[in-house]
Amino acid sequence: MHGKSVLLIIGGGIAAYKSLELIRRLAELGVTCGAILTRAGAEFVTPLSVSALTGQKVFQDLFSLTDESEMGHIELSRAADLVVVAPATADLMGKLAGGLANDLASTTLLATDKKILMVPAMNVRMWESPSVRRSFEILKKDGVLFAGPNDGEMACGEFGPGRMAEPLEIVAAIEAALGGAKSLASPLAGVRALVTAGPTREPVDPVRFLANHSSGKQGYAIAEALVRAGAETTLISGPVSIAPPDGVKLMRVTTAREMLAACEASLPADVLVMAAAVADWRPDIAANSKIKKSTDRVVPLIKLVENPDILATLAHHAKRPRLVIGFAAETDDVVENAIAKRARKGADWIIANDVSANLNGESVMGGERNRVHLISAAGREDWPEMSKRDVGTRLAARIAAEIKGAA
Ligand code: PMT
Repeated sequence: MHGKSVLLIIGGGIAAYKSLELIRRLAELGVTCGAILTRAGAEFVTPLSVSALTGQKVFQDLFSLTDESEMGHIELSRAADLVVVAPATADLMGKLAGGLANDLASTTLLATDKKILMVPAMNVRMWESPSVRRSFEILKKDGVLFAGPNDGEMACGEFGPGRMAEPLEIVAAIEAALGGAKSLASPLAGVRALVTAGPTREPVDPVRFLANHSSGKQGYAIAEALVRAGAETTLISGPVSIAPPDGVKLMRVTTAREMLAACEASLPADVLVMAAAVADWRPDIAANSKIKKSTDRVVPLIKLVENPDILATLAHHAKRPRLVIGFAAETDDVVENAIAKRARKGADWIIANDVSANLNGESVMGGERNRVHLISAAGREDWPEMSKRDVGTRLAARIAAEIKGAA
């Protein structure tokens, strides 16, 4: 995304405030953002706040001589890599579907030769009205991309589809659009994904085991996002207490060796995401009956042996997935260690997270939030702190851009 540019058209809706957050998120990724603010949009956010965040002049008026002398609407519509309309109101959708051009936003949308991504936001009854459905169908047929709308409670108090997608979901859709995905609704259609999640448990005896604090939340969120993106997703999970996402093929395992066997049985796959916290070692021998406390208080010694490295095994497998993604759970020198781990294990990407970090009062292992760095041959991307669900959404979009872009 770094170095790309987006022209953001902000329509008139209460969700316009989310567009300010969107501009900030894009800036963090090195994406330049120019903006057109419609007259109705300016009732919800001010030109000053948009301009302060984009660091550029905000364009508002088709007939403003100053605007036209600085940059004509034709040039404005062609300068960016992608045109994003957020919020996309019923009015803006209807105008583009009907070929109307009576203000700067609608003229720019007709004049552009770039892809258009619309992010609808409106009341549920409006969204479901026959005329908006018609506009939606026409625009989709014309190749306009859509992100959302989501289901949920709206500012007007009603519930249902019509809520604007969240800024990070829009970032993910922009990433997929810039990466060349054909359909934002199912950018990973036809792709087989294999995701591992949760801890492994290595038995000491029938009642004791070695394990770690992984809850499975990060891996499950990634699997859920991949399903949403249309991938045929197998989730291989260690013992966790959360419900599997709808639409995955779930395989439950306990030990690292079982996880490796389940992964190998699930090949071929196009993408592997190893989010599981696999135990590096296991007790040499798992006792068949409970180890008793000795009366002379001699503490039993447990000899550990190394577990197979699943990520390294699959990265060098005859049926190696096209895109192999590992995680790195680090407490020190997070990025440096992750770079070394990527080379050592033969992964294409490593998602590094600092598991000693305290995010919102919770630790990364077990908590709801994460802050990750994506390490690839191209370098590193530092993602801001976000929910594990958002990490999943964004990773799915990156995967779509990588896989479909290379297709
Ligand atoms: O489950 P949560 O509570 O949501 O927490 C998420 C998480 C912190 C567990 C997750 O984001 C994460 O970092 N997972 C990887 C944990 C880990 O085992 O990291 P590692 O640095 O020890 O291993 C590096 C990579 O090799 C990982 O992809 C791991 O799955 C893999 N590995 C490790 C050991 C082994 N024997 N086989 C492996 O495949």
